[in-house]
Amino acid sequence: MTDITKTPEWQALEGAAAALSKTHMRGLFEHDPARFDAFSIEGAGLFLDYSKNKIDAAARNALLALAKARDLEGARRRMLAGEKINTTEDRAVLHVALRDFAMRDYHVDGENVSLAVRRELERIESFADRIHSGGLKGFKGDAIDTVVNIGIGGSDLGPKMVVEALRPYWVKGRRAYFVSNVDGQHLSDVLTEVDPAKTLFLVASKTFTTQETMTNAQSARDWFLSQGGKESDIAAHFAALSTNAHAVEQFGIDPENMFQFWGWVGGRFSLWSAIGLSIALQVGFENFERLLKGAHAMDEHFRVAPLAENIPILMALVGVWNRNFMDARAHAILPYDEHLSLLPSYLQQADMESNGKSRNAEGEALAARTGPIIFGEPGTNGQHAFYQLLHQGTDLVSADFIAPALSQSPLGDHHEKLLANFLAQPEALMRGKTEEEAREELAADDLTKDEIDALAPHKVFPGDRPANSILFEKLTPETLGALIAAYEHKIFCQGVIWGVNSFDQWGVELGKVLAKDILPEIAALGEEMPQVSSHDPSTAGLINRINAIRGGKATG
Ligand code: F6P
Repeated sequence: MTDITKTPEWQALEGAAAALSKTHMRGLFEHDPARFDAFSIEGAGLFLDYSKNKIDAAARNALLALAKARDLEGARRRMLAGEKINTTEDRAVLHVALRDFAMRDYHVDGENVSLAVRRELERIESFADRIHSGGLKGFKGDAIDTVVNIGIGGSDLGPKMVVEALRPYWVKGRRAYFVSNVDGQHLSDVLTEVDPAKTLFLVASKTFTTQETMTNAQSARDWFLSQGGKESDIAAHFAALSTNAHAVEQFGIDPENMFQFWGWVGGRFSLWSAIGLSIALQVGFENFERLLKGAHAMDEHFRVAPLAENIPILMALVGVWNRNFMDARAHAILPYDEHLSLLPSYLQQADMESNGKSRNAEGEALAARTGPIIFGEPGTNGQHAFYQLLHQGTDLVSADFIAPALSQSPLGDHHEKLLANFLAQPEALMRGKTEEEAREELAADDLTKDEIDALAPHKVFPGDRPANSILFEKLTPETLGALIAAYEHKIFCQGVIWGVNSFDQWGVELGKVLAKDILPEIAALGEEMPQVSSHDPSTAGLINRINAIRGGKATG
């Protein structure tokens, strides 16, 4: 594969970046009063303003040329056609098939998978109906009103984020908990809050082999049996969301209570599948379907909108611009909606597990930087934490500011204040404050010349810092679905540009394997353990110290 940095399209982009190097973003706005219109687009209920990036028409054209040269449209077609674009795992990537309300058929290995998708959705609907109508009774005859989703990574972050985002849609009287960490405190804390007779455990794991999830599921099962539940009651209190029917059965979950998905659904793209059962139970099947419909609307936009008017594609290209040509080190996700508080951590997995790679799909080392560090917090909290670095730090950080124009729960003038901050922060990042402006302000405050000299440098904001603003009417299931789908497609497009396979995750393996080796070397409380000398001296030293603290007497 050619080194992307040597291509004429890449070099044209370097030229476009060099041409802008002496221009401040303030100047771009001053010279083009129509800049906002020229650098914003909309679709599927989302409005994207990317005018506060240091980009001009020439740079945008060069980015679009790069997309063409990387055959982004061909890659999109191949993904949507169910080709096995996840080459290292020999899998198709078809999360769009889980939400295709245009009723297209998708085929994998000659099989029409859409039929199975529809069948599984119907099963989810009727299961949700049974739970909501009180038809499914717990072992003491009570209606099930609580769900504990046990999963990790994609089997946790997506449904947890959506359930929180759709708080205003919660079915009255229902509670949903999410347990992910193998730290027993996580499960223990949740178990103190739930009534075993009214609780349904959803064991959510694509593989049904993940250490954390299987440990938590086993402990939940033991707890359930210790609380009066019998083996025969497991059927009413445990369901599985998985691709691995054999392991589900071995665990002892009734196949009737298994909701299936498939290898072509990536873990971090799985909230639309059976992994979303906790969503359907907490907000109702109808709202789960609205979420899928919103994502479908974005899929249609992504499928047909021209490159220059395509939200996920523009988000991807502007991201490449900032990362590779403006030297942005990280990308902040900044939702101005408390209910989107889990969006940054959800996107951390979606983006960093997808594009945090330094080899291309063929295994060759990549010359260009790939996925940035993703982090974030809801506004306005982040403003009082890390925005200092965004405004005046030595590293460039790009950002997505995300907000609904209308609040789901209007309260006094809270939302006006929230929106004022949502607008002010990217304006400040873009404009900055010159030394002259800082001095004028200080002079207006009647400071002496010495005081002004001392303080002015600290009051300077370089500005010229990039941000997108993503605006929508209200955080509904539809807009949320569209927002998540936009990010999914953005991540895919960036992978295509950089040449990485966004759908494998080999980088999570090594640590998992080493943890398995170390596990038998950690002493149980009070147990005698031989001194460990395998591993590097640091790891061995830490193991021996931990064993000593745990009461172990080193032998040998
Ligand atoms: O962290 C690695 C990973 O494989 C993720 O990709 C996945 O979402 C998570 O573990 C959980 O996997 P599973 O759903 O198979 O338990």
